[in-house]
Amino acid sequence: MLVKLAVLFSGNGSNLENLLKTLHQKSFNGVKFEIVLCLCNKKHAFGIQRAKKYGFETKIIEHNHFATREEFDSLLVSEIKKSGADLTILAGFMRILSPIFTQNISAINVHPSLLPLFKGANAIKESFQSDMKIAGVSVHWVSDELDGGKIIAQKAFEKGTLTYEEFESKIHTLEYELLPQSIIGLFSDTSRYDLKPMLKNT
Ligand code: GAR
Repeated sequence: MLVKLAVLFSGNGSNLENLLKTLHQKSFNGVKFEIVLCLCNKKHAFGIQRAKKYGFETKIIEHNHFATREEFDSLLVSEIKKSGADLTILAGFMRILSPIFTQNISAINVHPSLLPLFKGANAIKESFQSDMKIAGVSVHWVSDELDGGKIIAQKAFEKGTLTYEEFESKIHTLEYELLPQSIIGLFSDTSRYDLKPMLKNT
């Protein structure tokens, strides 16, 4: 089976690069993954250079060129559909998505906290500063609610005496493990998720 993926990002793009490295054109248990679209909403995002290293021209759609969220989301939807992607991965795509997107595209998101705690754009800082003894990362389905869709997988660790820099680096290391593992897991025979209702393109 071939699974086509679209990856959306806004900035640094380290999760995008990790997916290109670990999943693109690779097979796991008879399932081959192909990244068919890299899409970014910021024209100076560093992730664009990372994609180039792997031979990808990133499709740039700047949200500030659109009058409404819905107009921007409509174009995202049509680009993703055009790419033929079976699943869309939000890898640091820092946009609130309207129902135009969420009701038409099957997407998962990686988030740097143990959801439902610390939703939003400052999760790493908030989770570091909280008095919780553990922290972690989540992969979840994208729904109408920001960082609120059904959780697919999580990894946690003890904060201990980590400095902020060590903490942030631990979060990213876990993301690089959990996101590809989750994608592979979704398409494996033993997946706890019935993908059919989730995959809107098929
Ligand atoms: C990642 O830590 C990701 O979890 C986070 O943005 C970062 C992107 O890094 N996403 C969110 O906070 C979404 N709410 P990257 O561009 O280097 O992959």
